[in-house]
Amino acid sequence: MAENKQHQLLSGDTEDTQEEQFEPQLRPQTLAEYIGQNQLKHELEIYIKAARERDEALDHVLLYGPPGLGKTTLAMVIAHEMGVNIKTTSGPAIEKTGDLVALLNELQPGDVLFIDEIHRLPKVVEEMLYSAMEDYYIDIVVGEGPTAHPIHFPLPPFTLIGATTRAGILSAPLRDRFGIVMHMNYYTENELQQIVFRSAKIFKTTIDEDGAHELALRSRGTPRIANRLLKRVRDFAQVAGKSTIDTASVKQALQLLRVDSRGLDGTDRKMLTTMINYYHGGPVGLKTIAANIGEETNTIEEMYEPYLLQIGYLSRTPRGRVVTKAAYEHLHLPLPEDKH
Ligand code: ADE
Repeated sequence: MAENKQHQLLSGDTEDTQEEQFEPQLRPQTLAEYIGQNQLKHELEIYIKAARERDEALDHVLLYGPPGLGKTTLAMVIAHEMGVNIKTTSGPAIEKTGDLVALLNELQPGDVLFIDEIHRLPKVVEEMLYSAMEDYYIDIVVGEGPTAHPIHFPLPPFTLIGATTRAGILSAPLRDRFGIVMHMNYYTENELQQIVFRSAKIFKTTIDEDGAHELALRSRGTPRIANRLLKRVRDFAQVAGKSTIDTASVKQALQLLRVDSRGLDGTDRKMLTTMINYYHGGPVGLKTIAANIGEETNTIEEMYEPYLLQIGYLSRTPRGRVVTKAAYEHLHLPLPEDKH
């Protein structure tokens, strides 16, 4: 297999990838360094060891789950552990089949091709992936009109790692071609606390136990948020002349950022209070909520709702979303009589 070299060929222009590009030093490189997702890591260890022993490419991997949980990082870790190159791109960045051909053409045996937001691949590109994934070849049509003819183009064995926030909307033919399908879960408070300690060390700053715990509590189960908040809290503590970040600094900084004790931000609170004030706490449809608070339905479905469901502030019913008693309590709002 090729020497280990990780490089970015095309990059998506999402906020996520841009932010991640600035923080390469935060990324763990090995499974041993990677905190959390224990079940998934344990499985991967076995599949990687087995593939390496057989000197084969790892089977294709689909990673799905909410944004910010480390799907890109994990793809890089997998490539590192396999000892191969990784090329990273994203669904919207591959506009034409020619873009995919160019990517596939550069692969060495065993390499990883990582496609973030794979649910956003154009249909023609997705269809070209089918034979590439299943039998390592693509058929390219050259020429036009009567002279158009297909050319059979063999590929080296490779591993496609696809990431998506929404496994449900992947087409069945694509989903079925992934031999390894893994769901990434929100991180526990303890795991986030460990990530905060690790990142603080990389940033050459110190945070005490309680401060790291407070930050973990407010990070919505998401390492990317924990790391982003840590940077802001570090600024705050530095300007306040503190050598170690303590709970008080975390609380003060996050108050300034309007991140509350459970990590809810302005949009979460607006969503819940709109549902309470105008729709009696629900049930109310997602599109109605989105229109009322001026957000995209997708944004709510992928970024806001999963965490609110996870912590039990929202529930889903066939007639729409409902605000729970726990959310009323958190927002210090009186529960309507009929909901007692
Ligand atoms: N930084 C971001 N995510 C991480 C993880 N899961 N483990 C270690 N460091 C991280």
